[in-house]
Amino acid sequence: MLEKIAVPLAGGYAYDIWAGDTASLREKLAPVLENRRVMTVADSNTVCYAPAMGLEDPVVIPAGERSKTFTSAAMLCGEAARRGLDRQSVIVALGGGVVGDLAGFAAAIYMRGIRVVQIPTSLLAMVDSSVGGKTAVDIPEGKNLAGAFHQPQTVLISPEFLQGLPVRERLGALAEVVKYGAALDRDFFDFLEENAENLIKPEVDEALYLQIICRSCSIKAKIVTEDEKESGVRKYLNYGHTYGHAVELLSDFRLSHGESVAIGMAAAARMACLQGMWSKAEEDRQNALLRKLGLPVTIPQEMSAEKIVEVMMHDKKNSAGSITLVLPVKMGEVTCRKFTDTDQVRQVAEELR
Ligand SMILES: NC(=O)c1ccc[n+]([C@@H]2O[C@H](COP(=O)([O-])OP(=O)(O)OC[C@H]3O[C@@H](n4cnc5c(N)ncnc54)[C@H](O)[C@@H]3O)[C@@H](O)[C@H]2O)c1
Ligand SMILES: [Zn+2]
Repeated sequence: MLEKIAVPLAGGYAYDIWAGDTASLREKLAPVLENRRVMTVADSNTVCYAPAMGLEDPVVIPAGERSKTFTSAAMLCGEAARRGLDRQSVIVALGGGVVGDLAGFAAAIYMRGIRVVQIPTSLLAMVDSSVGGKTAVDIPEGKNLAGAFHQPQTVLISPEFLQGLPVRERLGALAEVVKYGAALDRDFFDFLEENAENLIKPEVDEALYLQIICRSCSIKAKIVTEDEKESGVRKYLNYGHTYGHAVELLSDFRLSHGESVAIGMAAAARMACLQGMWSKAEEDRQNALLRKLGLPVTIPQEMSAEKIVEVMMHDKKNSAGSITLVLPVKMGEVTCRKFTDTDQVRQVAEELR
């Protein structure tokens, strides 16, 4: 049994996300690859899932963010050429966000764009990076600074693969899941609150995870459909990410992305309260759920508020001289606010330490 989430994009291109048991997903994949040359890309931790999907002879990259480079993308293009991939061929990305972004980017540039199928294996990739068509590599000057929009042929999600994912990776990704609820869907937030205990169990409750994955994908798909190139509502997905990126960077990536986003949401909530937009009760409610999921909601002592503001001013998503924050107005609803005076931005960072 598979769940389907349709993603009808504005330009007329549409694809489906399928989620459920591995055997059924494998049946879905077969016709997409039939009579085409296929190159599967996986990393050293995700290559083990290839046989279950019927994928042969994968190209394996070392696991980790350090593989998300132009050099790796060039290596994949070279490998694609040596394997005889042509314009009708398909690249299959089997892995977390690193493999998805990198293989997606290679597919976007090889022969000016060939098909890509996303098979996300980390929770972050299942609920976030595999949906939306953004692909990228990192350059020494910054993360994701070179990339392309390249929509997949289909996205296939098996919660079974989560059993092998380290727990810290899973909990981190739950921050993005809470983000969808807190920023965009009040009922979903309630649902997460009710199921928090089961979500953090070491053994993955696959049926429960299937539900939260489908709900997260639907929310992201809806936003992406409305705003494919990020000029309007897609900004709301940035909830928790402005302070989040700053603390992530300043921690030298000791804080994971998800942990940083959790702190970022706590900071945005604090700011919303200061602005009289949100109540203390709702702030507490949001932070209680994050804590219950094992996520941090305070800024590490050693990080100075000044530094945080400085980094935020340089965020690529901010226009010069101001900081735009996505702030909650109600549980499940957010808005954008631009700050030219950074005093309050610093005060919030101060209060959260
Ligand atoms: N394209 C987008 O819209 C978008 C959105 C958010 C994040 N991203 C990108 O995604 C990346 C982060 O993604 P991530 O957290 O998945 O990182 P990742 O791909 O590095 O995966 C995290 C770790 O988990 C391992 N792993 C993945 N699935 C596994 C499984 N089923 N079993 C065992 N181990 C498994 C990986 O090998 C890796 O070591 C970043 O590069 C970020 O920039 C992209
Ligand atoms: Zn994120």
